[in-house]
Amino acid sequence: MSGKGEQLSQTFGCSRVDEQEREKKIRAVFKAVAPRYDLMNDMMSFGIHRLWKRRLVNMVAPQTGEVVVDLAGGTGDIAEKMAAKGRSIIVIDPSKEMMAEGERRGIKGVEFRVGTGESIPLSDQSVDRLTISFGIRNMTNMGQALREINRVLKPGGKMYCLEFSRPHWLIKPLYDLHSFYLIPRLGAWIAKAPIAYNYLVESIRRFPDQKEMKGLMEEAGFTNVSYRNLTFGIAAIHIGEK
Ligand SMILES: C[S@@+](CC[C@H](N)C(=O)[O-])C[C@H]1O[C@@H](n2cnc3c(N)ncnc32)[C@H](O)[C@@H]1O
Repeated sequence: MSGKGEQLSQTFGCSRVDEQEREKKIRAVFKAVAPRYDLMNDMMSFGIHRLWKRRLVNMVAPQTGEVVVDLAGGTGDIAEKMAAKGRSIIVIDPSKEMMAEGERRGIKGVEFRVGTGESIPLSDQSVDRLTISFGIRNMTNMGQALREINRVLKPGGKMYCLEFSRPHWLIKPLYDLHSFYLIPRLGAWIAKAPIAYNYLVESIRRFPDQKEMKGLMEEAGFTNVSYRNLTFGIAAIHIGEK
């Protein structure tokens, strides 16, 4: 890891030594929340996450014959929206519990594979488009994950990253109330996992803002990097090309 990747790791309080510890904690978080994950998303975001995800899928607009990966794809809700005859849609995620929820819902046309962003189980230049939605924040080594994404994309291939970002200052008081008061309580009542949702709030706060994220993608080798803010910058979609 170098440059901003290293800085980011330090900001996350995560040296190489405790990367493994952090990884274990993240696995435990998603194991705990898997059964209520989709319901919690609806409750926490008042359903807005569906609009953000729809926007992401519209931007990706996968074509017939393409290989599309949804990294950190969890229960497969993005993948399901992209699935169609003639496309190869692959979810990659380390959490068997999250993917089992998707399989239980009977999602069709999607392949689920165990793997991480830091070591994507695909060969070089084999993917046309790659999405990652609310997943990059969970990587223990984000610089490595971005380089891995770059490795598996074909030349001209694109990555699309939907993630929480830095909201406009005008809505910050409301946003703080929502994230520090409502989310932990919903996490306790609905998902019965308050610690998991405290982790969520903290990881959002520590995540780079729109411009820093753009810089990290460029550092990992992406070109034509741009971003679109969603709902006053509460979330953003970053797009980068190999
Ligand atoms: C907040 S969920 C997002 C799920 C889905 N993409 C969505 O938008 O609803 C984060 C996902 O990241 C996965 N994850 C955690 N660490 C990861 C890693 N190192 N590499 C890839 N995925 C990871 C978790 O298992 C979880 O399914």
